[in-house]
Formats: sequence, structure tokens, C-alpha cells
Amino acid sequence: MKIVIGSDHAGFELKEKIKQHLIERGLDVEDVGTEGRETVDYPVYAHRVGRAVAAGQSERGVVVCGTGIGVCIGANKVAGIRAALAYSEETARLASAHNDANVLCLGGRTMDHEEALRMLDIWLDTPFDGGRHARRVNMLEEDV
Ligand code: RB5
Repeated sequence: MKIVIGSDHAGFELKEKIKQHLIERGLDVEDVGTEGRETVDYPVYAHRVGRAVAAGQSERGVVVCGTGIGVCIGANKVAGIRAALAYSEETARLASAHNDANVLCLGGRTMDHEEALRMLDIWLDTPFDGGRHARRVNMLEEDV
């Protein structure tokens, strides 16, 4: 599986840990930045990740900022993106099982990094339940 990752400066440290973790899992990782701790603007990286997933260049994406909130708002502005801010192992599981989230949002300053990596694994390893959840996910793209 190919996965694209991006962060601002506040998410940089966690993004680097995520990159290492995903490579160790054998995944093909594309890192769209940022490259260091200098202050940058999170929408740039959220949009880059969202566009790569929406275009089919990557199956999934991960975005990180200080809280995970800004990048989640940004990624969700890209058509076709379902970005989910997970805040526990259970919400990481449900983000896949119920919402078919194609982008995971994490907070580099608000989350324990080891727990964030566990949430990442759970999100990646949980299949979409489909059924009634597929109907609802499809409705997200409609004017209902
Ligand atoms: C950067 O200081 C911070 O505002 C950003 O990383 C993020 O938390 C925004 O939602």
C-alpha cells in the first residue's frame, strides 16, 4: 500500500516517527513535508496530502499538526477526502469501520506519540464495514 504523509512544524516530530514506523511496516511512504521545525502553514501540507489521495496517487494519507484539527479541516476541503481526527484506539478503529476515512489526522503536541502510532496501526488494519455505513458515506458527497 502507498501512503502519503505531511505535517506542519508542530507535527514534524510525530510525522518523522510515523514515517519510520510505516517504512518498518513495509509500506511505500511519500513524505510531502515539512522538512524541519521552522514555522510553516499547515493548510499547505493538508492540501498536498488530500490532493495525493483524491488523485489516487496514494491509497491513504496521514496529516499531523499541533492538535490535528487544522490539518483535518484542510484535508477535508479536498473533494473525495474523508479525514478523521482520531483521539483513542476506539475512534481510530471506527474511523475505518464506519467512516471509511482515507486520511487520518493526528496531533503532535496533544497526543502521546506511542499511542498515536497504535492508533495509526489500528486505522490501517481495520476494514470498512460497508452495508449501512457505505450508504451513509455515499450520502456525505450528496446534498442531503
Ligand atoms: C501551529 O502553531 C498550530 O496552530 C498548528 O499546528 C495546529 O495545531 C492548527 O490546528
